[in-house]
Amino acid sequence: MKKTVLVIDDDRVFNALLVKNFQRMGLEPVSAASWREAEKLLTQHEPDLILLDFRLPDADCERLLPLLAAQYPVIVLTGFGTIRNAVSMIQLGASEYLTKPVDLAELELTVSRVLETAALRQTLEHYRKRVNQDQSALVGDSKEMRDVHSLIDAVAPTDVTVLIQGESGTGKEMAARAVHERSPRGDRALVIVDSCGLQEQLFESELFGHERGAFTGADQQKKGLIEEAAGGSLFLDEIGEIPPAIQAKLLRVIETGTFRRLGGTKTLRADVRFIVASNRDLLGMSKNGSFRSDLYYRLSSFIITLPPLRERREDIPALARHFLDSFRKTEAKELTPETLKRLLAYDWPGNVRELRNTVERGFILSRGARKILPDHLAFIPGLVSGNNDTTLQYGFEPTLEDIERDYFSKLLVKYGGNRQKAAAALGISERHAYRLIVKYQLSDL
Ligand SMILES: Nc1ncnc2c1ncn2[C@@H]1O[C@H](COP(=O)(O)OP(=O)(O)OP(=O)(O)O)[C@@H](O)[C@H]1O
Ligand SMILES: [Mg+2]
Repeated sequence: MKKTVLVIDDDRVFNALLVKNFQRMGLEPVSAASWREAEKLLTQHEPDLILLDFRLPDADCERLLPLLAAQYPVIVLTGFGTIRNAVSMIQLGASEYLTKPVDLAELELTVSRVLETAALRQTLEHYRKRVNQDQSALVGDSKEMRDVHSLIDAVAPTDVTVLIQGESGTGKEMAARAVHERSPRGDRALVIVDSCGLQEQLFESELFGHERGAFTGADQQKKGLIEEAAGGSLFLDEIGEIPPAIQAKLLRVIETGTFRRLGGTKTLRADVRFIVASNRDLLGMSKNGSFRSDLYYRLSSFIITLPPLRERREDIPALARHFLDSFRKTEAKELTPETLKRLLAYDWPGNVRELRNTVERGFILSRGARKILPDHLAFIPGLVSGNNDTTLQYGFEPTLEDIERDYFSKLLVKYGGNRQKAAAALGISERHAYRLIVKYQLSDL
């Protein structure tokens, strides 16, 4: 896509020269001979770069520059007579400055560099956001997962909107990342939007941005996530939760590739690939009217469905090993055959996420032991059959401390208060057991 450069200079000959030069460079120049003209153009275009003559007849550029530079990369052009030093230009926000008469080779170099820096900055921002996020690839070699992979590979190179469906914890977000990463946009930003729980207007301005004064409290123009994601992809999670009014606007962006900021009049181009996900039955919702059917039909042109884990149990061993590997710091741990058997038999209503959590807890509760025993999984309801007296059940998501306290106290009860036995069952030292007893005040058990 061609980059747009806005040239603001009242010297028409020079202006035309720049325009011609930019066209030759494969850019899309837009030119203004005054600030008034430029202001008007800015309501229709969203330039990637502005070249600003520092001496305009109708504007005080010293005041104008910081405002423009807050939104766009700006290269300042100064006449020889009005020379100001580079530092003060840069302090006002300019990316670069050039002195007239401008050497065309230097101009070209400077423009390319500034455009490149702006693109780099976006990429950098993207990587900064990605730090600490789990980037590991989708694990699993079942027929079902191989089908998922080939769908991802097929659709990734296109700009087609993708709908990812599947129960909670099946890996929808991971699949969305894979679509993005395997696409030509893969080294640009992937912006993730969780559609849950945001109030309508807030959500709308998050997504589309707003102009100054669009609503009470909008005292500054703000770019929306669609603009943040320019060149990259936008992942809309839980799309079934989006309010109807926004569903309509979303459909418009997807269909036309254009949108407007809240309170804005200029039509902006959305250079974005949409990936959406839902764990709800969107088709059913579109039939009963709680999800716009026109949006559903638009989204349903390419659906990737992630099968529940219980329908691809053969992936369980590889997944469990993968997670065990990711938790280890030094020593390798493994599941005993019996433990694996339990994992294979379980139904995993929480899918891969639940498996991951289970393996993590087993990893922690096995402490110094190299092997993870079925008993180390004992607190997962239904996971351990038979000896149920140390099974824990929670109506909430327990913290590790909850689990440690409850499990240890159950062990103490089971072994009639024998610390040595309880400690052995937990794989901890007697001293450690004693500390737990003090910590949780379990001395009565
Ligand atoms: N195939 C897989 N390989 C490795 N890890 C996976 C796989 N599928 C899921 N996971 C892991 O399981 C967890 C849940 O995955 P993810 O967040 O993608 O699920 P989701 O479908 O988006 O869930 P929800 O609907 O609850 O948002 C994450 O920790 C993810 O890393
Ligand atoms: Mg998710």
